[in-house]
Amino acid sequence: MLKNTRISDPEVYSIVEDELKRQEYNIEMIASESTAPLEVMELSGSIFTNKTLEGYPGARFQAGSHEADRLEILGIKRAKELFGAEHANIQIYSGSSANYGVYAAVLSPGDKVLSMRLDQGGHLTHGSPANFLSKVYQYDFYGVNPETEMIDLEALEEKAKEFKPKLIIAGGSSYPRLIDYKKIGEIAKSVGAYFMVDMAHVSGLVASGVIPSPVPYADFVTSSTTKTFCGPRSGFILCKKEYAKQIDKGVFPGSIGSMHLTTMAAKVWSFKYATSEKFKNIMEQILINGKTLVEELTKHGFRIVSGTTDNHIVMVDLRSKGISGKVFQNALDSIGITVNKNQIPFDPASPFVTSGVRIGVTSITQRGLKGDEIKIIADIMDQVASAPEDEENLAECKKRTRELISKFPLYPLGSFED
Ligand SMILES: Cc1ncc(COP(=O)(O)O)c(C=O)c1O
Repeated sequence: MLKNTRISDPEVYSIVEDELKRQEYNIEMIASESTAPLEVMELSGSIFTNKTLEGYPGARFQAGSHEADRLEILGIKRAKELFGAEHANIQIYSGSSANYGVYAAVLSPGDKVLSMRLDQGGHLTHGSPANFLSKVYQYDFYGVNPETEMIDLEALEEKAKEFKPKLIIAGGSSYPRLIDYKKIGEIAKSVGAYFMVDMAHVSGLVASGVIPSPVPYADFVTSSTTKTFCGPRSGFILCKKEYAKQIDKGVFPGSIGSMHLTTMAAKVWSFKYATSEKFKNIMEQILINGKTLVEELTKHGFRIVSGTTDNHIVMVDLRSKGISGKVFQNALDSIGITVNKNQIPFDPASPFVTSGVRIGVTSITQRGLKGDEIKIIADIMDQVASAPEDEENLAECKKRTRELISKFPLYPLGSFED
């Protein structure tokens, strides 16, 4: 795939080659990652890179749009059919910009937004003080019940009545349970708010119908396409027909410039792939693998946030093991298992240290790992946690990791040979 770069820039070529090796020999368990099918790789680097285009089919700002029009029209049709949505915008660049697109479409500076706390499962783009939008809109937050560690719907309703937001957001980046979209939609309606669901993490599971869809209940649904959707680095927005024009305007010219036709082509392919038996089997297996990981880690004495998972995310509280998320993440990284440190609900530790890690099973499921292998992964994790700074222990864990993952190639042999 990189035959020209190899000659013109060996330095960049070798970085990409090393990344390929890293992914090949690592057990990737970052919950927001997946392994893009080869078609997604091909299309993401296609001839459409050369085309600059703004506007929508039938109302473009540049000429030469015939093929791009065909692509976008096909993609919108596929996205609508896949999710049962009344309207789809597939121009948006990513999950973050999908959220910005909705804000641009329906909010004015100073408007109020109610979303889930970042440290209990939400996302940076839902009003974190670190994100510039916190200076534009007024955010308030709901969270989880301290006992169940699941969304506290009663408190959410109370807050909604008191705060009177213009927009309520559900969905997050480290929430392992199903969300009652119907109930939150009703709450939004009762206070006259729009309801947006950010399904960035779970859109693959939703597409294949293995978990409930927010589409019937939300005014707007945003997503990235890199997580369980297993597609290119991009995003999309779904909405009710009545908001179609408003959303399209919020996307372009509201929040983006020219379309990225390369990743759009890869998205259009992915919308079809998501209807396949192969994709559905992977999504079903993700749910099984998530539950198996919960069981195995629990047997080893790890505490699982909220007790279980309903999706691809397993949130682990490390306090019973006496180590921080930071130490565990780094020790696992050194032996070839990639996870990320993450705050758990009501975490006494800072976001830079954390008491937990977030583990995802999408990539390993795509590679074919199942129950027996997950048992070994949990066992290796426990061995790492027992002595995360002992070089001999880590060396042994690294050997076990390499032995396990070597049996499950990332891509078919020879996929990247020039
Ligand atoms: C809930 C949620 N929304 C949005 C995003 C941002 O997606 P992207 O990285 O595609 O911009 C993420 C990323 O992790 C996420 O978890």
